[in-house]
Amino acid sequence: MDIDWAELRAAATAVAARAYAPYSGLAVGAAGVDSDGTMVTGCNVENASYGLTLCAECGLVSAQHAVGAGPLVAVSVVAADGAPLMPCGRCRQLLLEAGGPGVLLDAEAGPQRLGELLPGAFTPADLAGRRRDGGEPGSRARRNA
Ligand code: THU
Repeated sequence: MDIDWAELRAAATAVAARAYAPYSGLAVGAAGVDSDGTMVTGCNVENASYGLTLCAECGLVSAQHAVGAGPLVAVSVVAADGAPLMPCGRCRQLLLEAGGPGVLLDAEAGPQRLGELLPGAFTPADLAGRRRDGGEPGSRARRNA
C-alpha cells in the first residue's frame, strides 16, 4: 500500500490545532491509517492535574477503535508547526499494539519502523501463559462477567 505521507502529516497538523495544551503549550496532533485507507486522528489533552495528560497518540488509538479501523500501517505525529515529533516511550508501546512493530512512523529523515524505535518490547505474548492463573489475557474478566 502506498502511504500518502503529505496527506497524513497534513491531517496530523490539522488536528494539532484542536489540542488542549494550556500547561505545556505544546500542541500535538497524530494521524494514522489502516490498510484499507481509513484515517484516524487524535490530539493531546492536558489537565490541571498534570499527570492525567493524554498524549495525541492516546486519542488516535481511541479513534482507531471507535471507528472500527484495522491495525495502523502508518502514523504521523507532529507539533503545531507541522514537523514530525517522535512519540514518547509510553506511546511507542501504545502504537505497538495498535499496529505492530512494522508500523511506519513519519520522521524528518524518512519513515521509520516502530520496531526500530522500541526494540525488545513487552507484548501480549509476554502475558500469554505466564499469568498466575495460567489463563489468556482477558479470561479473568470474562470469567467474572
Ligand atoms: N505529547 C504527546 O501528545 N505525544 C507524545 O508522544 C509526546 C508528548 C504531549 C503531552 C503533553 O501534552 C505535551 O506533549 C508536552 O509533553
